[in-house]
Amino acid sequence: MPDTTAIPRHIAIIMDGNGRWATQRRLPRAAGHTKGVDAVRGVVEACAKQGVEYLTLFAFSSENWRRPSEEVSFLLRLFVSALEREVARMHANGIRLRVVGDLSMFNARIQDLVRRAEQKTAQNTRLTLTIAANYGGRWDILQATRKLAERAAATGVAEPIDEAGFAEHLAMAYAPEPDLFIRTGGEQRISNFLLWQMAYTELYFTDQYWPDFDAATLGRAIESFQHRERRFGRTSAQLADQAQGADTLSC
Ligand code: IPE
Ligand code: IPE
Ligand code: MG
Repeated sequence: MPDTTAIPRHIAIIMDGNGRWATQRRLPRAAGHTKGVDAVRGVVEACAKQGVEYLTLFAFSSENWRRPSEEVSFLLRLFVSALEREVARMHANGIRLRVVGDLSMFNARIQDLVRRAEQKTAQNTRLTLTIAANYGGRWDILQATRKLAERAAATGVAEPIDEAGFAEHLAMAYAPEPDLFIRTGGEQRISNFLLWQMAYTELYFTDQYWPDFDAATLGRAIESFQHRERRFGRTSAQLADQAQGADTLSC
């Protein structure tokens, strides 16, 4: 049973509200996205300092292609410039970078930058930062299912599939499931983020827009998490018994 009094090992965030942050200031939506990159820098540093092991940020969903083409192009350019500018600093700070999502939809330059950034930072151990780009929880479940079906077709053997065996084929198989999910911007929905992996994740919503997110907001989310009781289907009494058992064992 994960310990909620501790720092969550894995935090997953939907960074929402960039557009409204900008509109509120009579700025173009793009200004909100640019400011959002600064907030990313801040949250990565804050998580590394707090001892969070995995931070996953939803940067572009498989549904975000539906936005006006100028906004989509701007977001892609921002992704390129962030990859070009931030990776050296991340590497110096011991951060391992991973990108999950259907990268085949991106141009060769982005794919190459992603590959190189992942390779360069692969051995870092302080914090694993995952950027979800052209990611969708349904896409992830489908691509895992396809891999299993292809394997069965190739070997001619349909092996029994259990949860653990299935999860091995998900895009983030290298990480534990998120302990804490944060969504900024006031909406209380999952928007096709990590559907499979968030079955038992603690959810935290804040009205604050993403560009205003800082170490203090992160601290409040972690504090809220530390007051939750994660039962995973059990009763409170069972958890109390278990904790007592653990205490007795450690005496
Ligand atoms: C989140 O901010 C960034 C992305 C989805 C890329 P939004 O752009 O969704 O901002 P709002 O929700 O319109 O304010
Ligand atoms: C979710 O935000 C995706 C990202 C933050 C990348 P959206 O702003 O796209 O979500 P909806 O459309 O309001 O659900
Ligand atoms: Mg939004």
